[in-house]
Amino acid sequence: MDAFTYIDGRLLCEGVPASALADRFGTPLYVYSRATLEGHFDRLSSAFAALGPLVCFSVKSCSNLHVLRVLVTRGAGLDVVSGGELARARRAGCPDGRIVFAGVGKSRDEIAAAMDPPIGWFNAESEQELDAIAEVAGRRATGEDRRPRVALRVNPQVAPDVHAYTATGVKGAKFGVDFDEARRLFDRFGTGARAPITLDGLHLHIGSPIYETGPYVEAIRGTLALVHDLAARGHAVRSLNIGGGFGADYQSARSPSARDYAEAIVPLLRERVGAGLRVLLEPGRTIAANAGILLTRVRYTKTVPGPAGPKRIVIADAGMQTLIRPSLYGAFHFVWPTDPGVALVPARRAEDPGLPGLARADLVGPICESGDFLAKDRPLPPLAPGDLVAVFTAGAYGMSMASNYNSHPLPAEVLVEGADARLIRRRQTIDDMLAAEERG
Ligand SMILES: Cc1ncc(COP(=O)(O)O)c(C=O)c1O
Repeated sequence: MDAFTYIDGRLLCEGVPASALADRFGTPLYVYSRATLEGHFDRLSSAFAALGPLVCFSVKSCSNLHVLRVLVTRGAGLDVVSGGELARARRAGCPDGRIVFAGVGKSRDEIAAAMDPPIGWFNAESEQELDAIAEVAGRRATGEDRRPRVALRVNPQVAPDVHAYTATGVKGAKFGVDFDEARRLFDRFGTGARAPITLDGLHLHIGSPIYETGPYVEAIRGTLALVHDLAARGHAVRSLNIGGGFGADYQSARSPSARDYAEAIVPLLRERVGAGLRVLLEPGRTIAANAGILLTRVRYTKTVPGPAGPKRIVIADAGMQTLIRPSLYGAFHFVWPTDPGVALVPARRAEDPGLPGLARADLVGPICESGDFLAKDRPLPPLAPGDLVAVFTAGAYGMSMASNYNSHPLPAEVLVEGADARLIRRRQTIDDMLAAEERG
């Protein structure tokens, strides 16, 4: 699953004790395991090998340049959704042809930046965006071979069991276009049309995290029927990007494995790939989530009267400004002290780890919001000021969604490689935070 393990009652990331990292780099601290990042990427790539896919890591999930470099070196492409992420992809050394650019609201400047030099694919989400890509392309002296390659994002209208905020392929969602609109847009921009773009791909991303294979099967089957319709209208579809959304192990091993997803998806596409279809994937969470933890130090503890008796509150130096997923999505992250001693090492990362002598507590942050918490009502060992707590499965949508709310500086990030650890983002200072205002 990952390289964060308790040995002799203390947490290690690969070969380095978590407490040594916190002592050296301070807290809150995001810690990533290189071996886990690489292992997850390799497992997914080999599970889908029969399709020879381009696996484009979703930069939004974990956008640190050094993490991106690890994956690009391993053969990953990158999925970006802004000019800023495009710049990250290029700085990380990603070949332009391995970059896909998604997102509903690309500006003309962002579109132009992605044509110079040309990226692999734009994933377009509306007619007006196709017009914008065509307009920017038309202004440039492009030969046939420099026409930007575009995949149209479709909404297959399937409803996986995910949080409403991360369901992207349901009726009424802002993402993509419905199949009727897709037919019309291919007639306008597809094969044979005299547009300065090459519209010959389809893209879908139905939500995240999806802990079942059925919604992928349904969405891909529906999209293949569309490919068939488009062919009948004279439009070749040369690429199909099936998006991301594969699960991570937030609670024990709940997620299907890469092999499980591949076993459901590969048979649907194998023949098409044989006939020349290029398949792309855009996984983020399944690669990065379990590859990172957040280390936070307890500042204070107190007991307050609760509706069902006294309630223990543990106040840490990380909160919703550091990891917003619990507050935003009600997401579960397993939290546990890094050095609980041998008797208190949990066998599973579960809601209730089933150990004796635990007492329920809320682990909260310093932010002035009742919604600021990392874990609610969890059975936890005793915790005192100065204790270090690990928040697991924090590598995806953790640091990339961190903010300066309440004017807390952004945390540092560290990459562990075997017995070594290196700072891959220094902690923001208060001066850094204020610089754009003072000198803006
Ligand atoms: C278009 C698109 N592709 C890929 C992803 C990555 O999803 P995940 O990190 O769940 O794999 C997202 C996430 O929001 C997305 O919007």
